[in-house]
Amino acid sequence: MKKTKTGPNAVGHNSVFSAVTTALFDMFSNKGQLDPLADNQRIDGKVCLVTGANSGLGKSVAIQLAKRGGHVIMACRSGIPDAGEDVKRLSGSDNVEMLSVDLSDLDSVSAFCNILRDRKIVIDIAIMNAGLMPLNSRRSAQGYELMFAVHFLANRLMLHRWCQDGVIKPGTSTINTPRVIFVSSEAHQSSEAINFSKFGEYIEFGIKDGLRHYGTSKLHLSTFANELSRRLNPECSDQYSVKMSDAQSEKNSGEKTNEPGHVNIAVHSLCPGPIASNIARESPGFLKPILNPIMSLFFNSPDKAAAPVMLLACEESMGKRTGVYLHMMREKTCSEHASNSSNGEQLWESSQRLLAKYLDPEGKRSKGMGSEVGRSESESIEGTEGAQKRTAKQKTNLSTSA
Ligand SMILES: NC(=O)c1ccc[n+]([C@@H]2O[C@H](COP(=O)([O-])OP(=O)(O)OC[C@H]3O[C@@H](n4cnc5c(N)ncnc54)[C@H](OP(=O)(O)O)[C@@H]3O)[C@@H](O)[C@H]2O)c1
Repeated sequence: MKKTKTGPNAVGHNSVFSAVTTALFDMFSNKGQLDPLADNQRIDGKVCLVTGANSGLGKSVAIQLAKRGGHVIMACRSGIPDAGEDVKRLSGSDNVEMLSVDLSDLDSVSAFCNILRDRKIVIDIAIMNAGLMPLNSRRSAQGYELMFAVHFLANRLMLHRWCQDGVIKPGTSTINTPRVIFVSSEAHQSSEAINFSKFGEYIEFGIKDGLRHYGTSKLHLSTFANELSRRLNPECSDQYSVKMSDAQSEKNSGEKTNEPGHVNIAVHSLCPGPIASNIARESPGFLKPILNPIMSLFFNSPDKAAAPVMLLACEESMGKRTGVYLHMMREKTCSEHASNSSNGEQLWESSQRLLAKYLDPEGKRSKGMGSEVGRSESESIEGTEGAQKRTAKQKTNLSTSA
């Protein structure tokens, strides 16, 4: 679907109407659809972390990952232990555990990161899924707007800490490249551009503007996903990004179309499309009798909506690429705003300032950490043989002054 470049604030679709019609077209048309993950694709022994795994899409993804042999960590603020027991029963796997975290509270996120670090957990597949659509604006524990805090700040902090603590490490081969998958939304395409002069400021809004602000928080998330992908994989430029459709025709013809650059950690994002889940739990009581049947009739079940997540998380070729965006089962581009590297840098630096107190809790940087965030002084973020050959300039860089 063609992107529109309209007024100064429109960064993708020029209206919510355009975004909704695109979503409906994509849902009911088969054109350009990718094949789902093969039934026999296994991930035995891989450590998979899913946020918001007690409900909807996250729960379904947790079940599917466990069925394929993953060790699943469900990172949730509620449903402990019942949702975990459900996932065990429905997947037939005991390799499932639940950890508690409230993503709207940075102290809770920090404590959660400490637990992963202290247990020396190394994640192979991270599904950053938790999300919400509140009826009105509300404040997080630290006073930020709730969706900004959960959709963006918590993910920004977790990824920084995981790289710093070695909870996510660059893969040693394309078979074991770790993957980080962000569940965003096409709503990011119809959001207004991020206002960096008011970055992180709390904005009051009511029921009329909720969807707009949801889109803005997902724009922060998509912009972050692209920036993280660039910083973790400096060798991969867009020109090396082989499209899945190209890779499939390459496989069929036996011809090589392109060589992707080395991927340290694959970072992808997606919109799962409309899901019959609990996302509209805050909708007014009078709307529920209308909304619930519409959702169950026209929206995808969480199991079906999980298909693009599973493809990005487990399909082999997705470990050789980074920065892929799927809208349901179609590969697309994020909005221009979200893909723009100077927006990504600004987002990175602005959030670095907001999170300063949480990013470096033990003062590692002041003890002589180089510009790379992520390893002890003796261990760079690129611990692998191939990576060591790269120059300092090419190294994965999560610092502000990249
Ligand atoms: N539903 C759709 O039509 C749709 C469309 C596009 C994108 N998405 C995205 O898909 C993702 C999954 O949503 P869903 O449809 O499956 O909705 P859901 O059933 O409401 O699940 C959302 C999950 O996020 C968790 N969560 C929310 N706030 C949290 C917090 N502060 N700390 C920890 N966990 C928190 C919820 O936990 P609790 O149960 O404890 O609240 C729940 O597990 C979201 O990112 C959403 O934005 C959904």
